Amino acid sequence: MPQAAVWLLRYSVVMCLLLHSLVMMTFCFHHAATSCSKRCYCSETESGGKTMRCSNLQLTEIPEDIPNDTQHVYLDFNLLTAVPTNAFAGLTQLVELDLSHNEISQLEHGAFRGLGTSLQFLDLSSNKLVNFNPVAFKGLKARANLTNNPWQCDCNLQRALPFVTLEPVSLTGIVCHSSDPPGMGVEGLAFILEPGIDLCGLIKRTTDVAMLVVMFGWFTMVISYLVYYVRANQEDARRHLEYLKSLPSRQGKSEESSTISTVV
Ligand SMILES: *[C@@H]1O[C@H](CO)[C@@H](O)[C@H](O)[C@H]1NC(C)=O
Ligand SMILES: *[C@@H]1O[C@H](CO)[C@@H](O)[C@H](O)[C@H]1NC(C)=O
Repeated sequence: MPQAAVWLLRYSVVMCLLLHSLVMMTFCFHHAATSCSKRCYCSETESGGKTMRCSNLQLTEIPEDIPNDTQHVYLDFNLLTAVPTNAFAGLTQLVELDLSHNEISQLEHGAFRGLGTSLQFLDLSSNKLVNFNPVAFKGLKARANLTNNPWQCDCNLQRALPFVTLEPVSLTGIVCHSSDPPGMGVEGLAFILEPGIDLCGLIKRTTDVAMLVVMFGWFTMVISYLVYYVRANQEDARRHLEYLKSLPSRQGKSEESSTISTVV
């Protein structure tokens, strides 16, 4: 009996080791086959949807070797500071992109180029976005989570937001950290839920004033030129008249010529 138990134990240990290495090998092969970015974790659902998880890896740059048939990319909880132009170009099947909990303060022009038709969800929440770059979002239909960023509420943001598809949570989550012009009292308010705030009106008013000043300047110049022109002509006419008057006497004539010489 004990002999059989020992044999069973040995057999099971060997089997276990074999199984373990087999699992390890398939895992490694799978890893190589999907050419996943190093340190990231890639998986594939039964329906063929590929997912790449690179969460919490202290990444400072977006991996360049994301397989082009990936549908879900998780880059949250890293140290990314910017999304460069064409960062995800070629990922024509990308459905979800999670860039939340990074240090992103800049979205360059064309940052999401190529994702227009496929992307449905874009998470940029909990980053360092201050100014909104409407060009980066051009053509994008994805619902964007823009909450928890230090937004500067200004005319640019006010004009751009109606054209961005937002995740419902963004309605309450786009909170003004500062404003331009400053002192508008919008700090701490959910911008979209405050339709009474008009940050573009003031700019319009200042441009109106500038236009008025310029027009007034032109007007003054034209008027003063006219006045000068009329005065100069009057002077000429007066001189001419005096000249004609003084024609009969030789003295007057010489006087006139002397004044002319002094003028010249
Ligand atoms: C992915 O890239 C390969 C090789 O460059 C190409 O043959 C394939 O069509 C691409 N797939 C997609 C979905 O773009
Ligand atoms: C949007 O971002 C916030 C903050 O990171 C998060 O709590 C929330 O779950 C996100 N919403 C969705 C729909 O993902």
